[in-house]
Amino acid sequence: MTDQKSVSNGFVRLVDLPVVSDPRGDLTFVEGMKHVPFDIRRVYYLYNVPVDAERGGHAHRELEQVVFALSGSFRMKIDDGETKSEYWLRDPRKGLYINKLIWREMDSFSQGAVCMVLASRPYDESDYYRDYQDFVAASKVGPL
Ligand code: TYD
Repeated sequence: MTDQKSVSNGFVRLVDLPVVSDPRGDLTFVEGMKHVPFDIRRVYYLYNVPVDAERGGHAHRELEQVVFALSGSFRMKIDDGETKSEYWLRDPRKGLYINKLIWREMDSFSQGAVCMVLASRPYDESDYYRDYQDFVAASKVGPL
């Protein structure tokens, strides 16, 4: 991550989940409004991702998310309209919280990587900014 450094630019931050470990293995859990700052309304996951694939390439008007690498690793490129940063996710206990109005791109998936996303809202295509210039304009004044 800009390795596991617990940076926050106000809109993005790493979230640590609990782990219960015993000789049978590790168990991690997540509760809405406790471990993540919203009620979890949707869960989705990416898998069978080609190692040269690029995903994301959008921002959201209202949606908040926390992204995890449940297995393997990948890079998240984050852009708040002014400042860019990147995070390598590779620990299933550490998620990346992404507030609304943050542009994200994902790449460098390892073979067999599984990305799980917890989301604050159901899927709604009208919540997306898929055009970067529209996003930058909105990031300066709030959702358009
Ligand atoms: P998208 O959010 O663009 O994927 P990513 O950011 O991982 O590259 O979604 C890809 C497609 O899947 C798009 O057609 C919308 C659809 N989709 C749903 O129908 N429901 C969902 O919950 C999500 C996340 C995507």
